[in-house]
Amino acid sequence: MLTPEEIRELEADLAHYPQKQSGCVDALKIVQRRRGWISDDTLREVAVYLEMTPEELDGVATFYPVIFRRQVGRHIIRICDSVSCWIMGYEKVYSALNGTLGIRLGETTADGRFTLLPSACLGVCEHAPALMIDDDLIADWNPGNVDGILSRYP
Ligand code: FES
Repeated sequence: MLTPEEIRELEADLAHYPQKQSGCVDALKIVQRRRGWISDDTLREVAVYLEMTPEELDGVATFYPVIFRRQVGRHIIRICDSVSCWIMGYEKVYSALNGTLGIRLGETTADGRFTLLPSACLGVCEHAPALMIDDDLIADWNPGNVDGILSRYP
């Protein structure tokens, strides 16, 4: 069941839309921020609130990579694998993270700290290779500094 806090936040945000279904991505993001991911139960709760079917809402949820339909770690690492980053050292970036964290793309560390995901171009091609950790963009990344970077995310 959606909490009173979630409903308050949903009402405030969805007031900006002509119909609440139009704000379904916002609604998913709001609930995900509080719960960490969108489980099947959560999806059904949000769908009821939005007066959508779970199937309709799942179609939206699975389209956007910012919505997690599986449990993820506390921090999300997105490695850009588009052309400029690929040329400028994607494989070194991936190897450093894979070696340090012991996970491959799509996996989460056993302690639930990090999830590693691929990303399309992050828009800073002139500063490749690039990645994001949560909302932080890390450009011109030198994989030699992997421990220093990761230590910022307990
Ligand atoms: S290709 Fe990586 S930021 Fe554009």
